[in-house]
Amino acid sequence: MSDAPQVKATSNGISPPSFHLPLPDRPDIITANIQKLTELTPNPRHRFIFKALIKHLHQFINETSLTTDEWMAAIDFLTRTGQKCTPLRQENILLSDVLGVSALVDALNNPVAGGATENSVLGPFFTEDAADVDFGESIASEGKGDYMYVEGRILTTDGQPIPNAVIDTWETDNHGFYDTQYADRSHPDCRGRLRSDDDGKFGYRAVVPIAYPTPGDGPVGELLLLLGRHNMRPNHIHMMIEAPGFHKLVTAFYPDGCDYLRSDCVFGVKKSLVNLKDVVDDEEARKRGFPQGGSFKLLQYDIVLLTEDQSATIRAGVEGRYTITQDHKGNKS
Ligand code: BEZ
Ligand code: FE
Repeated sequence: MSDAPQVKATSNGISPPSFHLPLPDRPDIITANIQKLTELTPNPRHRFIFKALIKHLHQFINETSLTTDEWMAAIDFLTRTGQKCTPLRQENILLSDVLGVSALVDALNNPVAGGATENSVLGPFFTEDAADVDFGESIASEGKGDYMYVEGRILTTDGQPIPNAVIDTWETDNHGFYDTQYADRSHPDCRGRLRSDDDGKFGYRAVVPIAYPTPGDGPVGELLLLLGRHNMRPNHIHMMIEAPGFHKLVTAFYPDGCDYLRSDCVFGVKKSLVNLKDVVDDEEARKRGFPQGGSFKLLQYDIVLLTEDQSATIRAGVEGRYTITQDHKGNKS
């Protein structure tokens, strides 16, 4: 016999419920029992979320008559999705993206009104190490793509300039890759951090971004093939704008004419964010600092931020709209 001290297996400390639960002899009793047990959840918001989750999950399994093999395939898929994650690769977020969940959570949590600029998905390619870029300077090294100039103002909803707003921007090069996707990356490229001036104005040189595939070498790539869906994002340039007292805006701008605009595999494109002009004027190109001159694309956009108070008020209104019999905290009304 072992000399190791004998430790008795114990429960998590929660007693059996005081109410009667019938034995789950039929499928519908399984659903009813777990719903009753979920009523015990102490936190009202958790209770509300899990009751809804269980209701829809059980409904889904009944509705699809899910087979054991299909359920095991789903478990295997989720296991591999988690295993694919590393500090630099987030396959779970990609899954949420391609299922439209990221865009939906984003849209519900960042509703806009009063002419404020709409948001778009952040994506996995933002980095903290972007170089500071002065007004009119380039975020891209020479040879990274066709010229594009980005300019506009950062404004309040009543048209007042917001000076000193911090603008982070990042994009793909002419091969459709972010700098972080190159194994030999030595410094940030096609990304920069700038500030709006006293009139709220900003301007910088960039390159025309290229449409690119989301990572296809993992379980989410397999899923898109199974569903007969492409894994492309239309070309875009990301911008993230922060100013004290204003709601942080994460957005992106999409040049018109891309074949993938309407079927973006992560559902990030909004009509108001599609914008780009052609400027065919050698002198103007040189004046704006493009060393080769010639023509360039011009992305002109006034970005309108909500104050934190405006954003909270709009969010509260949207939450109210989705309230049916229980509010978001789980209180019955
Ligand atoms: C992106 O725009 O960078 C992106 C967004 C979602 C998934 C993959 C990439
Ligand atoms: Fe992107």
